[in-house]
Amino acid sequence: MITSRRLFLRSAGAGAVAGMAARPLTDFSSAATFKQDDGLVRLDNNENAYGPSKKVLDAIHSSVGCVNRYPLMEPNSLTERIADLHGRKPEQILLGCGSTDILRMAAFAFLGKGKQLIQASPTFEAIEDYARSASSEVISVGLTLTFSHDLDGMQARAGSLTTLVYICNPNNPTASLTPRKDLEDFIAKLPASTFVVIDEAYHHYAGQSGMYASFIDHPLDNERVIVTRTFSEVYGLAGMRLGYAMASPNTVQKMRQFASQDNINTVVIQAALAALEDTESVNDSIRRNMDDRQEFFNQAMARALKPIDSHANFVMMNTFHPAEEVIQHFHENKILIGRSFSPMRTYIRISLGRPEEMQRFWQAWDMLPYPKHTMHH
Ligand SMILES: Cc1ncc(COP(=O)(O)O)c(C=O)c1O
Repeated sequence: MITSRRLFLRSAGAGAVAGMAARPLTDFSSAATFKQDDGLVRLDNNENAYGPSKKVLDAIHSSVGCVNRYPLMEPNSLTERIADLHGRKPEQILLGCGSTDILRMAAFAFLGKGKQLIQASPTFEAIEDYARSASSEVISVGLTLTFSHDLDGMQARAGSLTTLVYICNPNNPTASLTPRKDLEDFIAKLPASTFVVIDEAYHHYAGQSGMYASFIDHPLDNERVIVTRTFSEVYGLAGMRLGYAMASPNTVQKMRQFASQDNINTVVIQAALAALEDTESVNDSIRRNMDDRQEFFNQAMARALKPIDSHANFVMMNTFHPAEEVIQHFHENKILIGRSFSPMRTYIRISLGRPEEMQRFWQAWDMLPYPKHTMHH
């Protein structure tokens, strides 16, 4: 039975009072494990379909005994661990309740009425939403024909009111890269008052090439560059909400003013510390994603489809048909795929799932009621 949270709490409270003398205290340690068993295949949110590693799950279980306490010192140990990992000072690291929280802090620290955000279109929308709630203007510049950021176009729109630029690399939803060298040239030419967020949520899947190098691993000596990472993807902790930024101490200080207090929970801190130690599982996770991605492209090729080259844990492809209808078809087959992304209204975004889930995807694809030849390049 579905009941509102308020009603549930009220009735639970009444029962507790009535039964107080007679019943022993509830044993919370035997609480049933929550599981999603609605039969839906979730290929819609770029999550890690395999979940966290065994070591991380163990850390989560053993930290549960501390959830009655506020996290006081623990966030500092995680900050120090992340700083150490990247060879930086703790003052250069800012934790957030998901990297979305970091994007919020950046928007509120650097935007406001009369100021402008420049971003690509399409890209991850969170910062645009926060920019608008900070009463800023948002300038969206379409991607190039190779689906990288149109840096010349963005440059041309940047002026004295542009206080923030958002670069998502690899980009969500296209899973495409913007070349490192081009980004460096672009950043060097920006007005002196412009900060740049480089969102590396999908860093682990991008691989090393002349095209891509992380701005955390290979930083620029520039006070205005903010790099964000998340624990939601390769570490499989999307439901636990943790992300971080790396920037100069001054820039971190400006954003920290907009952090909510005690925003990092006790359990996720232990999970993250374990995840950062467990490099073997991270490497396995990256390899498995490469295999799953290759299999997706094999299946696509067998159907003469040509998805956009993917550097992430999701793939975008043109269906040459209104995306909303394709999405609806998958939904009717109990498969959730990404939403429709303006202006790429005939493209769909598919997050990579487990092999059996991807089989379901391709079965449903083959049942699409549209003439297949219209979908080919
Ligand atoms: C590019 C990008 N940045 C940030 C996020 C949000 O990450 P988090 O779960 O850390 O808030 C996502 C999630 O889909 C994303 O695609």
